[in-house]
Amino acid sequence: MQDETGLLETFDDKVAKEIKIEPRDWMPENYRKNLIRQISQHAHSEIVGMLPEGNWITRAPSLRRKATLIAKVQDEAGHGLYLYSAAETMGITREEMVDQLLTGKAKYSSIFNYPTLTWADIGAIGWLVDGAAIMNQVPLCRTSYGPYARAMIRVCKEESFHQRQGFEILLTLCRGSNEQKDMAQDALNRWWWPSLMMFGPNDDNSPHTAQSMKWKIKRFTNDELRQKFVDICTEQAKILGLTIPDPELKWNDEKKHYDFGEINWDEFWKVVNGDGPCNSERLAARVKAHEDGKWVREAASAYAEKRNRNN
Ligand SMILES: [Fe+2]
Ligand SMILES: [Fe+2]
Repeated sequence: MQDETGLLETFDDKVAKEIKIEPRDWMPENYRKNLIRQISQHAHSEIVGMLPEGNWITRAPSLRRKATLIAKVQDEAGHGLYLYSAAETMGITREEMVDQLLTGKAKYSSIFNYPTLTWADIGAIGWLVDGAAIMNQVPLCRTSYGPYARAMIRVCKEESFHQRQGFEILLTLCRGSNEQKDMAQDALNRWWWPSLMMFGPNDDNSPHTAQSMKWKIKRFTNDELRQKFVDICTEQAKILGLTIPDPELKWNDEKKHYDFGEINWDEFWKVVNGDGPCNSERLAARVKAHEDGKWVREAASAYAEKRNRNN
């Protein structure tokens, strides 16, 4: 049996050599804690993220749009389930995680606390929100924890479908009537800044970043990812013929990147701390869904118990 120092050396060595850490491997307690927090927050975001879009399934403008949106929302449920399973391999139960979400103890991505007011919002979410998710998640396919990294591979393939369907919704609106184009612009105006907030606080305000980079839980910093996102979306907005709502957005030839304006950090912290436009509505919807599903959980466990008795 190795002592703690030996175990830590083996762990660090594996991380350095890009060998995945697996559920039964020894790992530092903080690595475990950090990852449980990260993976469960990610799972909660997938589940809560179904709500703003689910809101438009009954009102999608055509059968094709409806079928695509249903498929997308179902994908998000699947992402939530893989991620809960990945977190469970670290020793937390599904019940504990669900409880943390429903009691408001756990966080999920703040972007889902904004309302979806028009059909164009579904386009903007796919383009920007799933687009930002891809930016965050592609590097996680190489994260040091095996089950998380493997779950991310499939998740990212599905996210890129989500991003394209969103972009295509906006492209169709932008090629339509003036009224449709205005609707697309209005959605971009409302979703742009919250999407930039999805990358989290600035690097000098992000307490977990340094350690998470060292453990290869995170592969790029918040600001690096945000910059990449701005660079890509600015070009894509040109194809749509839409204007990004940032007067300071400007190509910087020296840096070979776009400069952009400052995020409203007061709004960011307000929404993170539970005071966004839809925080209480989202939580209430999850609590209700959980209560409505109680009989299913009871019936399933009664059935499992009966089967175990008969075996
Ligand atoms: Fe997802
Ligand atoms: Fe998605």
